[in-house]
Amino acid sequence: MNIHVPRGTEDLLPEATKKWQVIEEKLNHLAQIYNYKEIRTPIFERTELFQRGVGDTTDIVQKEMYTFEDRGGRSLTLRPEGTASVARAYVQHKIHGSPEQPTKLYYIGPMFRYERPQQGRTRQFTQFGIEAIGSAKPAIDAEVMAFAMDCYQALGLKSLKLVINSLGDKDSREAHRNALIEHFKPVKDDLCQDCQSRLEKNPLRLLDCKVDRDHEAMKTAPSILDYLNEESSTYFEQVKKHLDAMGIAYVVDETLVRGLDYYTHTAFEIMSEAEGFGAITTLSGGGRYSGLIEEIGGPDISGIGFALSIERLLMALDAEGVQLDQDESIDCYVIAIGDEAKYTSSNIVNQLRKEGVKADQDYLDKKVKGQFKAADRLGATYAVIIGEEEIANGVANVKNLKTGDQKTVEIKHIPKEIKTGF
Ligand code: HAM
Repeated sequence: MNIHVPRGTEDLLPEATKKWQVIEEKLNHLAQIYNYKEIRTPIFERTELFQRGVGDTTDIVQKEMYTFEDRGGRSLTLRPEGTASVARAYVQHKIHGSPEQPTKLYYIGPMFRYERPQQGRTRQFTQFGIEAIGSAKPAIDAEVMAFAMDCYQALGLKSLKLVINSLGDKDSREAHRNALIEHFKPVKDDLCQDCQSRLEKNPLRLLDCKVDRDHEAMKTAPSILDYLNEESSTYFEQVKKHLDAMGIAYVVDETLVRGLDYYTHTAFEIMSEAEGFGAITTLSGGGRYSGLIEEIGGPDISGIGFALSIERLLMALDAEGVQLDQDESIDCYVIAIGDEAKYTSSNIVNQLRKEGVKADQDYLDKKVKGQFKAADRLGATYAVIIGEEEIANGVANVKNLKTGDQKTVEIKHIPKEIKTGF
């Protein structure tokens, strides 16, 4: 039996990776524009980090982690997301001591969740995420959302919706939590096992339940926005005012809770509104986390961030018919006529590459016609043609394959001639 990739993972062949490179380049560039610096953390971490960071009662920790014991008996987990790792690194390296605050970081890399695979949901996916740690001011919440929207807009996407909510501070959440427990208690027995066991521990999670989504009690559940204390509600108003000032449209959805436990105050998601996008319309999500850094042993410092997956970004590009500019063509193909010319061809190709010219040659001993065909297939602008006579004279014929113009050029001047163009 042939061995295939594990379920929920995929190979990216060269036609696909080219698109990824275009996207990654764009995202790296945006990060520079917004002044975020790259951080790289390990693919696996101690399991405890996610249990404490992401939250014991979340689906991610309860059902979706790839957890294993290493040969030293330590429990490790393939990272299901990036925020907890960045927070850990921030604490471990005492980045809060650095004068540059807030600390603005970004990352890009694979994440792993044992989920039921479907379009837009895989077991290995690639997140691009940012974390701005060390400021609890509404302007930075708006910056993170502006950045998130720009990731799509810079690639030409238009059918987007920014959905925001506030989960309030600790006191507001506590008041809302109690109201949720009171609300769901009478119907507890109707709810799924997960909801029943989460009711007392973390009732907010019930609002995120995929099983009981349509239960009547879900629709009438108390809204967090009615439980925000004055400080939280002022904060939320200021965030919205910053978004307005930046001309960023949004809708408030009081049912938006997010699937991770660390959120406080601002929570948001970006949805695709493109027709034919598929069942999962969330492109990315994020929010503020006020207790996370402390939870993993750091100071009482708040951060905000978001993450998108490139897989869903690609789906959105497909749904909106956006073509990414991907020029795979080469500049020059060197055609050798006769055995001796093969050595000269190697020499010329090597010279061209050293000069930064995208060049290639034949490695299958093709006839001249076949070599021209290869040049054509590779989209080469120029062909360099060399035979015995040319070698004897230290020259080669350089042909512009787009115009048909041809020149005889001294071999050592070929790179210059091609770079200048004719
Ligand atoms: P999240 O909502 O769990 O948040 O994931 C963020 C994004 O990752 C999703 O909106 C989606 O684009 C993508 N994603 C998640 N799971 C999958 C999957 N199985 N297949 C494909 N794409 C997926 C977080 O991970 C937070 N760490 C975001 C954040 C950063 N909050 C603050 N800072």
